[in-house]
Amino acid sequence: MACAKLLFGFLFKLVLLVFVLHHPANAQGLKVGFYAKTCPKAEAIVKKIMVETLKVAPPLSGPLNRMHFHDCFVRGCDGSLLLNSSTGQPEKNAVPNLSIRGFQIIDKIKTALEKQCPGVVSCADILAIVARDAVVLTDGPFWEVETGRRDGKVSSITDALSNLLPPFANITVLKTAFASKGLSVKDLVVLSGAHSIGMSQCAAFSNRLYNFTGKGDTDPTLDSEYIEKLKLKCKLGDQTSRVEMDPGSFKTFDVSYYTLISKRRGLFQSDAALLDDSETKAYVLSHANAKVGTSSFFKDFGVSMVNMGRIGVLTGTEGEIRKVCTKVN
Ligand code: HEM
Ligand SMILES: *[C@@H]1O[C@H](CO)[C@@H](O)[C@H](O)[C@H]1NC(C)=O
Ligand SMILES: *[C@@H]1O[C@H](CO)[C@@H](O)[C@H](O)[C@H]1NC(C)=O
Ligand SMILES: *[C@@H]1O[C@H](CO)[C@@H](O)[C@H](O)[C@H]1NC(C)=O
Ligand SMILES: *[C@@H]1O[C@H](CO)[C@@H](O)[C@H](O)[C@H]1NC(C)=O
Repeated sequence: MACAKLLFGFLFKLVLLVFVLHHPANAQGLKVGFYAKTCPKAEAIVKKIMVETLKVAPPLSGPLNRMHFHDCFVRGCDGSLLLNSSTGQPEKNAVPNLSIRGFQIIDKIKTALEKQCPGVVSCADILAIVARDAVVLTDGPFWEVETGRRDGKVSSITDALSNLLPPFANITVLKTAFASKGLSVKDLVVLSGAHSIGMSQCAAFSNRLYNFTGKGDTDPTLDSEYIEKLKLKCKLGDQTSRVEMDPGSFKTFDVSYYTLISKRRGLFQSDAALLDDSETKAYVLSHANAKVGTSSFFKDFGVSMVNMGRIGVLTGTEGEIRKVCTKVN
């Protein structure tokens, strides 16, 4: 009897081990190492180009990270963000002042991958790997990226406008939007931490400096000293100047985003809104004074990025593997 129990325990552990080592496909059909046999160098090729790119153009880390988020929230993570639509306007034309840039880097990566293993690696997966590498190369955490996404064939500006979150979104709107994508309140507060890197145009927050309620007033939830500093960079009516979202460390992925929010220095209303819900507020405050190494933020971020990367994916025989990321085959 005891022997049978032992044997059973052993078998159970063995099964568990095999399970873990093989990174089995999750419910959506994605898995870590999807290209291990078909294009073993895929991730190394992406990384090499990312290293080269960020060496000469460090500010591209922000937009290259953000693309995956914008891709996933519109029609799922299917590379639709990259398409030039033949009929009507594509996703990437939505709100031009939100200024996603770096598309030519994705094209460069795709070209290199097509040379190595033609027709194998999807544009949607490239965005997921690029988003991770942008974080790693700014001193943030590494996580295993699930791959196996296939590319969609449709890109529409209307879908983008109705799914992308504006910087003035309040906590209710944010929570509802994340929930509608199957993401939790924790994912919301954790993924917002991506604003630890990158820059923003004045257009996204100047209402908070000059005309918050239409009476020439400022946003009372934004620190008044910070408002004065921001006004020096964003004069009245200036839509296009860029400011660092995490002043002083916008090139470093770190936990300081939460410190800023706790000091009422979150740049967007959507950042400040994280203080308006008990769960997101608790996360912000508990990470506000954390030191790298003691904070769970890095680990949490990888987990939430994997969750985000599963939104509405096409797998198996769905969609296609584009040859060129800007157009359907
Ligand atoms: C929660 C809702 C979110 C809102 C309302 C929001 C809004 C914005 C806005 C308005 C900008 C400035 C864009 C510009 O002016 O060029 C921005 C930048 C950025 N966002 Fe978000 N964002 C959100 C969530 C996320 C998520 C989930 C990620 C990634 C996981 C992300 C990553 C970034 C990055 C890296 C930048 C810097 C881009 C650059 O340097 O050009 N954001 N975001
Ligand atoms: C896609 O559109 C951009 C500008 O919107 C253009 O620079 C690029 O050449 C186009 N690519 C293709 C394949 O049509
Ligand atoms: C949040 O914003 C939405 C849409 O603008 C609005 O309908 C709602 O009343 C706002 N909620 C709160 C609590 O301010
Ligand atoms: C971008 O510009 C459009 C109109 O051109 C405006 O409706 C929108 O609110 C602006 N977005 C931001 C983030 O300010
Ligand atoms: C502030 O907003 C109000 C209402 O939209 C508008 O009438 C006024 O011209 C704005 N003021 C400035 C300085 O932009």
